[in-house]
Amino acid sequence: MQTKQIYYEDEYKKTLEAKVISIEKYDSMANIILDQTIFYPEGGGQPSDQGVIRGKSGSLEVQQTIIKNGEVVHIGRLVGNLVENEVVECNIDWDRRYKNMRTHSAGHIVNDAVQTLFPALIPVEAEHGKKSFIKYQGNLSQISSTIILEKANEIINENLPIKTEFVSFDELKKRATWIPENLPKSKPLRIMQIGNYSIIPDGGTQVKKTGEIIRISEINVTNKDIYVYIHYKIESIPEHPEVENKNLDSNISYSSYNSNDIINTKNQAIAQISGAKDNEELEQIRIDLFGRNGKITNILKGIKNVPQDQRQQIGILINETKKTLEGMLLDQKNSFKENAREWFDPTIPGIKKEVGHAHLVTQAINQIQSVFERIGFRRARYPEVEWDWFAFEALNMPKGHPARDEWETFFVNNPENSRFGKMVLTPHTSSGQVREMQRLKVPPIRMINIAKCYRRQSDISHVQMFHQFEGMVIDENISIVNLKGTLDYFAQTFFGSTRKTRLRPYHFQFTEPSFEIDISCGICNGVGCKVCKAGWLEMGGAGMVHPNVLKAGGVNPKKYSGFAFGWGVERVLMMQSGLAIPDVRMIYSPDLRFLTQF
Ligand code: PHE
Repeated sequence: MQTKQIYYEDEYKKTLEAKVISIEKYDSMANIILDQTIFYPEGGGQPSDQGVIRGKSGSLEVQQTIIKNGEVVHIGRLVGNLVENEVVECNIDWDRRYKNMRTHSAGHIVNDAVQTLFPALIPVEAEHGKKSFIKYQGNLSQISSTIILEKANEIINENLPIKTEFVSFDELKKRATWIPENLPKSKPLRIMQIGNYSIIPDGGTQVKKTGEIIRISEINVTNKDIYVYIHYKIESIPEHPEVENKNLDSNISYSSYNSNDIINTKNQAIAQISGAKDNEELEQIRIDLFGRNGKITNILKGIKNVPQDQRQQIGILINETKKTLEGMLLDQKNSFKENAREWFDPTIPGIKKEVGHAHLVTQAINQIQSVFERIGFRRARYPEVEWDWFAFEALNMPKGHPARDEWETFFVNNPENSRFGKMVLTPHTSSGQVREMQRLKVPPIRMINIAKCYRRQSDISHVQMFHQFEGMVIDENISIVNLKGTLDYFAQTFFGSTRKTRLRPYHFQFTEPSFEIDISCGICNGVGCKVCKAGWLEMGGAGMVHPNVLKAGGVNPKKYSGFAFGWGVERVLMMQSGLAIPDVRMIYSPDLRFLTQF
């Protein structure tokens, strides 16, 4: 990992200066890797951090932080520009993180409570985000939720320290009481311990003292099969009625107090500060704490009454408390300032939600279908796993015919059918010709069959699964003129009004005569250029349906005639868009950087 994980060194750090190691942009989004970070990436059940990474001439609104290929990647919307090696300022959304941290630590507290009360339960998995629960193997009765809630809040009220430590895997195995099945190897191995409860592997961020959680407000127990889910909820800081209503002076005497009294004062003050709504309220809280008769002032004054042997320890605690509260007062004051500066400009364009879209091949298929439907063709679909008879024999290619070799066919390992032969993955859409004739029985037939085809070929211009669209028209007096007219119509509608087609003699067993169709090059208009060389681009096969094929379909060749053509969807798609896709297989890769462009 190139990134220093500052979120493990100081879980309370909200801002950090860092350097951009790499930036990868796509559309209005970017992925950024930094030399160090305070953004916690998703993992261990804890949701990832959000926030802003600000540079000289732009910023990344971090929506998600993840570990990808062993690196911490910040993903978000890029506004303006950021460049490699640039020094940036990181700001995490602290409210979100602190809530996540408290929720996460609360999960461990619930687990400690559960393991103490019901040692037979085996933890399986946990989530500490919007949904917060721990899943155990075992079962519990409904009443147990009350006992767990009580025990967990007892741990919170004890305000126990939460310690974390990095260790080797062997050390972890020795010390931890429970080891999850697949410990992530990409993360440093860390253990955590609440007070003297058991040591547990953990990769998330934790609060320092259990008191920061204030209270677990709800525990729900649900049994499902052999598992029990324990859902929990924590009290949100600003809405803690118990703390806000408490008369703080009533239970602390400043002439004799102990460390618990100080911690309680601190927790109550934190709740009040984060709940303050304006500067005035904040100022009142400050006076109550630090004024001449303030709580902290009085605690400081009372230090002379603390027994000599405890004085040093209590002194450190008071100073820590004072620093934390002063810091929080300042943070809260600054946040008011920022909010006051914030104003709403309704003319600023909103942030568009990214929406999904059909795959580019699906888009092309829909377009091809609609072009042909306008002139009376009907879409058909026939089996992808097809009989040899429909794919070859009915198309005038009996068993052992050398022409079959052109279709590098996949055979299915299935018993042969006495009439239809072997099973194949259909190597072309022409297998639909005879099926359509058998289905409709009497012409006129106007079919457009668009389907997946399979051939044993894989290189930069072939992929084993691809698509073809097959047109077939059968009626009285159908001639090459109709074929040419149909192809010109398609070329002009699909590629552009100036395009022309050309028929070049060729051979197929199932058409007579047969052609290969070329289309005039869109760049040079048929004159000849670097792309097309001779002014024409090759599109695919076509021809007049062979009388034997008509017979196989039950159509009388004396009365009816027809034409057919079969082209590749991927090929026309690439030609239409002028896309220079270096490898057709990219179309079927799951790479979003490629797919989201269409
Ligand atoms: N099925 C042929 C192929 O896959 C194309 C074709 C279709 C040719 C219809 C003539 C008529 O190459």
